Amino acid sequence: MKRAEAEAKRIFGQRASRYTTSAAHTDPQVLARVVDLAAPQRDWLVLDVATGTGHTAFALAGHVRAVIGIDLTPEMLAESKRLGAARGISNVAFELADVHDLPFAREIFHLVACRRAAHHFSRIGQALSEIHRVLRVGGRVVIDDRSVPEDDFVDDCMNRLDRYHDESHVREYRPSEWQRLLEDHGFAVEAVEPYVKHRPLTAFTADVSPENVRRIHEAVDGLTPEQRAALNLRDVDGQPYLNHWYVMISGSKV
Ligand SMILES: C[S@@+](CC[C@H](N)C(=O)[O-])C[C@H]1O[C@@H](n2cnc3c(N)ncnc32)[C@H](O)[C@@H]1O
Repeated sequence: MKRAEAEAKRIFGQRASRYTTSAAHTDPQVLARVVDLAAPQRDWLVLDVATGTGHTAFALAGHVRAVIGIDLTPEMLAESKRLGAARGISNVAFELADVHDLPFAREIFHLVACRRAAHHFSRIGQALSEIHRVLRVGGRVVIDDRSVPEDDFVDDCMNRLDRYHDESHVREYRPSEWQRLLEDHGFAVEAVEPYVKHRPLTAFTADVSPENVRRIHEAVDGLTPEQRAALNLRDVDGQPYLNHWYVMISGSKV
């Protein structure tokens, strides 16, 4: 297992219960858009990669025949199973697996979804090859993830802050990088939808070691007025807020 995956297991193992109720991960607007882009059909078999506590799997479950959610972290899967049982959802199953080596035969899924997780994958090309392998020809992929705009300063700064927030962070990609990555791995891109949420700085500092909290504050305190403007960093009700960039992208297997 690569360092990023070992770190993801450690960090998500500690933070699992937080993701069950996290406002960012339960955001109904984002989940609804994932479902819209997926355009699911009743007879579909769906794979939700890096399912975490299962929010995306559950959002899709009511529209399809069955969903399998896979994840690297047993503690996250324990939460997803608990949540599924509490909601009485019977067509979602969860399995421990790494996206870089999916334990499924080729061309069995109609849809693969992956939300807020790809920035942790140590080998994004290998992950996309695996997603491509298990999808049926014409099958759809929908990815939602943290992203950065086409701006070198913001790209570097946000990736650095995210690494301090979570040491398993590998890279959040620009929309143009996502487009190229999908095209290079055998997908025809159907939609690329960047979006932004203005969030408190505490979203970065929560559950983080004192050393990394210090690094986050040091990075923010050292910004010039132009850099603060580029991040939309400003006080809201006495608290610093800044932009978080995201992208949703969908495509189909050619
Ligand atoms: C933020 S959570 C995912 C949230 C979830 N997809 C949702 O929609 O609510 C990120 C998840 O990625 C998982 N993960 C990271 N690297 C992985 C890998 N290589 N294979 C499978 N899961 C991975 C982590 O264990 C963690 O549960």
